[in-house]
Amino acid sequence: MCGIMGYIGPREAVPIIMEGLQKLEYRGYDSSGVAIIEDGVLNVYKKVGKLAELKNQLNGMTFTAMSGIGHTRWATHGRPSDVNAHPHADCQGRFAVVHNGIIENYLPLREWLISMGHKFLSETDTEVLSHLLEEFYEGDLVQTVLRVIDKIEGSFAMVILSLDEPGTIVAARQDSPLVVGLGEGENFLASDIPALLAHTRRTYILADGEIAVLTREGVQVIDQFGNSVEKPVFEVKWEAAQAEKGGFDHFMLKEIHEQPSALKDTLSGRINPDGTGVLLNEITMTPEELKNINKIYITACGTAYHAGLVGKHVIEKLARIPVEADIASEFRYRDPMIDDKTLLIVVSQSGETADTLAAMREARRRGAKAIAVTNVVDSTVAREADYVLYTWAGPEIAVASTKAYTTQLMAMYLLALYFAERRGTMPREELKTVIREMKKLSDKVKVILDNCQAIDKFVAEYSHCGSAFFIGRGLDHTVAQEGALKLKEISYMHAEAYAAGELKHGTLALIIQGVPVIALATQQALFEKMVSNIKEVKARDATVIALAMEGIKEVEKVADHVMHIPSTHPVLAPILSVVPLQLLAYRMAVARGSDVDQPRNLAKSVTVE
Ligand code: M6R
Repeated sequence: MCGIMGYIGPREAVPIIMEGLQKLEYRGYDSSGVAIIEDGVLNVYKKVGKLAELKNQLNGMTFTAMSGIGHTRWATHGRPSDVNAHPHADCQGRFAVVHNGIIENYLPLREWLISMGHKFLSETDTEVLSHLLEEFYEGDLVQTVLRVIDKIEGSFAMVILSLDEPGTIVAARQDSPLVVGLGEGENFLASDIPALLAHTRRTYILADGEIAVLTREGVQVIDQFGNSVEKPVFEVKWEAAQAEKGGFDHFMLKEIHEQPSALKDTLSGRINPDGTGVLLNEITMTPEELKNINKIYITACGTAYHAGLVGKHVIEKLARIPVEADIASEFRYRDPMIDDKTLLIVVSQSGETADTLAAMREARRRGAKAIAVTNVVDSTVAREADYVLYTWAGPEIAVASTKAYTTQLMAMYLLALYFAERRGTMPREELKTVIREMKKLSDKVKVILDNCQAIDKFVAEYSHCGSAFFIGRGLDHTVAQEGALKLKEISYMHAEAYAAGELKHGTLALIIQGVPVIALATQQALFEKMVSNIKEVKARDATVIALAMEGIKEVEKVADHVMHIPSTHPVLAPILSVVPLQLLAYRMAVARGSDVDQPRNLAKSVTVE
């Protein structure tokens, strides 16, 4: 996720900004840049790669600027490159902007600005901001920022430096974090607290819709109507290492809590404004090519493969195309039947997993077209695929994948609806219902995160256990597999996921007194069958923790403990039901004392076969 640092005061700005950006490196980035005003000129320096590259560029130069803004970029719109790095300036070099988030309506705005004579240099969504400022500026930067905000849709933390008002830095926030640091005769801005700790612990945490106007002397906060806002000072008590994790004890927990905003970002700009359809501008298949697809393979590894299993279910159900989901390390060696009517979907958070890459190369060699669903812009998988759907989850640091998985699921739903709509396999009303429900998922994940106390009780009782079983049917079985993987991966507890109806064909022999069984029962249509399976394990004295959708009441009668997820369209349940399982694995790992963020024997990106 991008990092922002801004400074205004009596000291040299560049070293302070560079040091602040360094403190934000843990967030992940692929390029960086700074903008300062010196001798009446707005100078922008930016470089692809690590901060060291930017430092090399600045080496030997002397700076006297006492205000400036800086940025570390994690690419979304446009690959990592010098020109796509922030800050972005307007045509005349009067405004410099750094931005985190996504401007959803940047394409029409860009077209309009081009028609007004503006020249764009980068592929980014951010660049529309500097040109909008240039277009609207009439002598008052704050008023201009308010006007720009009125024109844009999406999420942003943006910070602006202007040649016309060099004694001021203006910042605005909507759905992307931004913190003001309050100094003595100097003030700071950052996307995260660690960048401020060397200078101050007194902060304003900006809320959505707020705008901060920084001068040396002070900071004024206003709302989107220009009214003054009284901000309480937030005194940071965390130490630096904890601050990096946003106050959470581990990156994994932080990333679990980032899911609501990550899910919003994945959907951003991909739904028609009237909610009647899906827009995937990145899939440029002709209607003929779409019609001709007669088979889809989804291939991936680990958690990404589990996302692929959900993809198989929903694409088959909604778009009526046969889909096979394959583990990438098996796929290429099993001589899959592929021709030019086959579509391959590869799913990879990192976009660098060797087995996934090899599977994609093999399928393309045999004539398939490939769509990559990945989180890392310009990764190898993204570069080599025919089409790319980015998940925009922001960097995932913990080895255990959480927000990458839920955003991959969102991408699967988008693809399923995209195919269904274009192939006419779904009634328009149902399509609209699913889209409406997809938009609510982010808030529903928040509800789950705020109400997960039942997990603690379970963890206290079962953290000593040697083994746990996860059972479910249909989509619930795919989520059970992800739940079991998560538990194994970070708590080192043995865990197995089974299709609930399959237990009695062998595995039931392992179900004895006290063995915890986590039973997923979110699918109303399969509920009766699940009740029978729960009774089967209860009859062997297992302890059952059921995970059910709100409204499915009878489950209380058969299970020992019940956790509810908010109700949603049944195909969307996996995005919600996996969240308690992620938390369960996390709490279990903490209780058992394992290294949550760096589990033994595992790496974040597996680049060997
Ligand atoms: O980067 P990828 O999505 O291609 O990685 C695939 C797997 O290695 C990954 O999902 C792994 O299973 C996770 N550590 C699970 O939490």
